[in-house]
Amino acid sequence: MKALVLAGGSGTRLRPITHTSAKQLVPVANKPVLFYGLEAIAAAGIKNVGLIVGDMSGDISEAVGDGSKFGLSISYIEQREPLGLAHAVLISRDYLGEDDFAMYLGDNFIVGGIDEPVREFRRDRPDAHLLLTHVSDPQSFGVAELDATGRVRGLEEKPRHPKSDLALVGVYLFSPAIHEAVRAVKPSWRGELEITDAVQWLIDTGKDVRSRQITGYWKDTGNVSDMLEVNRLVLETIDPHCAGHVDEHSDLVGRVQVDDGAVVRNSRVVGPAVIGAGSVVVDSYVGPFTSIGEDCVIEDSEVEFSIVLRRASLSGVRRVEASLIGRHVQVTSAPPVPHAHRLVLGDHSMAQISS
Ligand code: TTP
Repeated sequence: MKALVLAGGSGTRLRPITHTSAKQLVPVANKPVLFYGLEAIAAAGIKNVGLIVGDMSGDISEAVGDGSKFGLSISYIEQREPLGLAHAVLISRDYLGEDDFAMYLGDNFIVGGIDEPVREFRRDRPDAHLLLTHVSDPQSFGVAELDATGRVRGLEEKPRHPKSDLALVGVYLFSPAIHEAVRAVKPSWRGELEITDAVQWLIDTGKDVRSRQITGYWKDTGNVSDMLEVNRLVLETIDPHCAGHVDEHSDLVGRVQVDDGAVVRNSRVVGPAVIGAGSVVVDSYVGPFTSIGEDCVIEDSEVEFSIVLRRASLSGVRRVEASLIGRHVQVTSAPPVPHAHRLVLGDHSMAQISS
């Protein structure tokens, strides 16, 4: 069995970060979100991974390499345009051959891994096996309708009147039957070859499409608020440790991780939070659910519930909250705005104004 990991796409919901970097590399607790997926694949016993990459292929291959650090063997598959999830399968035909495969969306985050569903798929060998989870807003997702036996009867993409509250999680398990399906479907109104249409084609042609409801947490990190939410969740699990230097005028409270060579001076860091290697925090407050990347500078500032990427700096700003700050960004305080005086003065008045 192989895996097909999708790390292309246009990432419009995470602009402007995605103008210069891949959204799959945005760090969660200072580790790219894509790495969690690759680790889950390796843990499920899959070795060979086809990695779909688009415009940001250079960044991704630099970060992931040949996969050996995950115990994987990774082959890169270039997708010239993000023409849809089913298009990614279409262009991977040669790589996938006649193997079963797990398709994993590279910006998705699943707690609990994929061992169980992969085991179940290998045992039962249906044509497709979908992972589902209950959501409160099914209108925003691909939604599955099941029959009494749990087989998938139909799928709808972002339905106005959903037939269930079971959303498709970003992991799909397929037999080679999917290849005929992705060739058969036509682009949707948004110009993409939709995987939901391909799976619907399998259902309509009488193939065995099953599902499994996951109980663990799942999020698509495609927008800033979901990214911050996943970061919050992962930070809650970190082990506090200090591999940097914290001076006697500073306080670390709760789960705080200070990485190699990081310096905290005259500051208060309230966890869960991580201060990346080589970063400097001076005269500042870093609040809960914050990840400061590597080589950042936080001086005379306050930041919480945020992700700050590598080599960014905050200087003299309070308070930054619920923010995603890109690489090499500099945030500084504005020069003081001149005070304005609004006056209605009668003839011959005298006024003294401090300037
Ligand atoms: P999406 O988040 O659905 O699509 P997107 O990346 O185009 O983002 P947005 O909606 O914000 O514009 O994609 C899910 C995952 O699949 C993500 O990791 C990107 C990847 N992907 C591809 O690799 N190729 C594609 O053609 C598409 C549509 C997505």
